Amino acid sequence: MYKLQNKLEWGELATFIPNKRLPVYNWFYYKEGFSRNLVMNLIKMFRIKKGLVLDPFCGVGTTNLACRERGFDSIGFEISPLALFAAKVKTRDYNIVKLKETLKIFKKIKFRKSDRSWIPSNVRRYFNTHTLDDILLFKNIIEEMDDNITKDFFRLGLISSATRCSYMYKDGSVVKRRKHPVPPFRKFYHHRMKRMIKDLEKLETKKCETFITRGDARKLKLANETIDFVITSPPYLNKIEYTKIYNIEEFLFFKPPKKRGVRSYIGMREGDDIVNAYFSDMTNVLSELYRVCREGAKLALVVGNGCFPTKVVESDILLSELAEKTGFKVKKIYVLNKRWCTRKRTEKVGRLRESLLVFEK
Ligand SMILES: C[S@@+](CC[C@H](N)C(=O)[O-])C[C@H]1O[C@@H](n2cnc3c(N)ncnc32)[C@H](O)[C@@H]1O
Repeated sequence: MYKLQNKLEWGELATFIPNKRLPVYNWFYYKEGFSRNLVMNLIKMFRIKKGLVLDPFCGVGTTNLACRERGFDSIGFEISPLALFAAKVKTRDYNIVKLKETLKIFKKIKFRKSDRSWIPSNVRRYFNTHTLDDILLFKNIIEEMDDNITKDFFRLGLISSATRCSYMYKDGSVVKRRKHPVPPFRKFYHHRMKRMIKDLEKLETKKCETFITRGDARKLKLANETIDFVITSPPYLNKIEYTKIYNIEEFLFFKPPKKRGVRSYIGMREGDDIVNAYFSDMTNVLSELYRVCREGAKLALVVGNGCFPTKVVESDILLSELAEKTGFKVKKIYVLNKRWCTRKRTEKVGRLRESLLVFEK
């Protein structure tokens, strides 16, 4: 039996909300993300002074960006092309003069109609026609640019501006259409790019190596015993269909991914099957982490329990047991948040915990 300790004062830090006001961290709103200050607290808790930090589920790169602020080398793997893209763009060095010059050129671009024929009506319905034309115009101009770093920077700003100037409304795991007044796209985009450039001047990072790439946490492309610290948050059992809520952005700005690699976040099966698939995936993740960690490595995992119509699955306890079976020592389980698991939105099924698991190899 594990002794659970409350650390509810860190509750909000387990969400993306505090990042919404932070330069660079807020370049792409990611509901599944955690906050910069959670990572900073963990850096303090682990007394990290040097060493290689890994986030095998790096999302939009919160762990890696915080490591850059402190000057620690870090590695991130992510399966979603959109999150991966945001993570990479947020963790690069830029030539600010070049960005400013590009923005000046952007200001002079005249409106033109774009080819919308490749966009199906179920995507078009989220945009005002004029706005969509302008988004596509900028998308094409950006695609023709020759410097990839500048290109990606303007593309990330375009993606989040397009979302903000659309009728998309993300309600939990579904995208709904809500026709409401939207900001004028050009003005909004220009303003956003200006702010992103300013952010680069505001956020101080130190010299270090950041390596972020597409990868599967169940099969890490890393050599044995190379990692000193892991700071991460895996997908939560039965929580969000990550693939669905960014479908529109992925369709407009990326080629749709060929295969859905991760059973752990795809609620593709019913009842116990989801649970089994999740824990079998996480067993692989834990043994991979064990393989790549050095002796004495410290790990922090933020996880949520699973909410089902008839039961709560205590992922924090079950993952700790699995970690122990893998060879890790379970040092602490801190409870960061307590919520209700409900059926049909109102009927209470049980208490759900969101916890921080601390392991050591
Ligand atoms: C809870 S989120 C982590 C977010 C991150 N902490 C941040 O602040 O952005 C979990 C992430 O894991 C990714 N993911 C799911 N399965 C994966 C896998 N097998 N390998 C790598 N990443 C995966 C999801 O796309 C999602 O971005």
